[in-house]
Amino acid sequence: MISASACGKIILLGEHAVVYGRPAIAVPVMHVQATVAIEPSGHGLIIHAVDIDRAVTVDPTNSIDPLASIVNLTLEHLNSPLSDLAITIHSTIPIASGLGSGAAVSTAIVRALAQWFGARLDNAEVNALVYEVEKLYHGTPSGIDNTVIAYQQPVYFIRGQAIQTFKVAQPFKVAIGNTGVASSTKITVGDVRKGWENDRARYEAWFDQIGAIVQQARSAIESGAIEQLGSLMDQNQVLLRDLDVSSTELEQLIFAAKQAGANGAKLVGGGRGGNMIALIDDRNVEAVTAALKDAGAVSVIVTEIK
Ligand code: MEV
Repeated sequence: MISASACGKIILLGEHAVVYGRPAIAVPVMHVQATVAIEPSGHGLIIHAVDIDRAVTVDPTNSIDPLASIVNLTLEHLNSPLSDLAITIHSTIPIASGLGSGAAVSTAIVRALAQWFGARLDNAEVNALVYEVEKLYHGTPSGIDNTVIAYQQPVYFIRGQAIQTFKVAQPFKVAIGNTGVASSTKITVGDVRKGWENDRARYEAWFDQIGAIVQQARSAIESGAIEQLGSLMDQNQVLLRDLDVSSTELEQLIFAAKQAGANGAKLVGGGRGGNMIALIDDRNVEAVTAALKDAGAVSVIVTEIK
């Protein structure tokens, strides 16, 4: 048996506008992982996603189901036949919560299959394969989720451009609070698109403002001006509200984190549920974590960006 894994991710700033060509900043979250094990099976190629109690039998024509699709694409890329294999997926990344669960599962499958067939794939190849399947999950993905997860490093991402990294002058911490409300990125991305189609000028102006915030945030991170980053996260959240992708549960967690001393807070990913992040430091980490739990967070992860 062999196994491979992939991490989760958060978008620090810039979600949704990134679909329209503006920059966004995303970082890997190593505390959550999707893990894929492969062993021989006597009866076809079967994928078992244990946490969601789902089994899929792969046939070469299945290009609709994301799990079957990533297997078929990878086998094709590796020039390997559809074999009798049992692929088992375990994941600690909550589904539909803005932490990149779909991209992480796909990435772990690609890595595990490459290992099984003794092939070496570089990050760019993994990224390209996972992006194909992100289209099935999300409709019109920017590609940021697969990029940050496949490369497993912080990225300053602009759709269609080569990956850019940045340096973190002074490490900082964020608390990631989960509302426990599942929300489909495909739906929120689709709703933002409808809004944009109805009023392009207004949405383009919001996307421009988000893009400018992301650029300033990059400078703040690169120069160690972390207090500025908090205010930029707050400004980004105001614009995400304008885009109508926040929710009562997210706002409750954001409010609680700020009341407990967080330097800034915003939703992450598609929104309308899933997770939010709060910029914290060693003085308020415990207070913010407790406040998020009191305000209804089903889990809180504290992670350092460095
Ligand atoms: C999802 O993690 C981030 C969005 O910007 C969608 C995308 O970039 O594809 C909402």
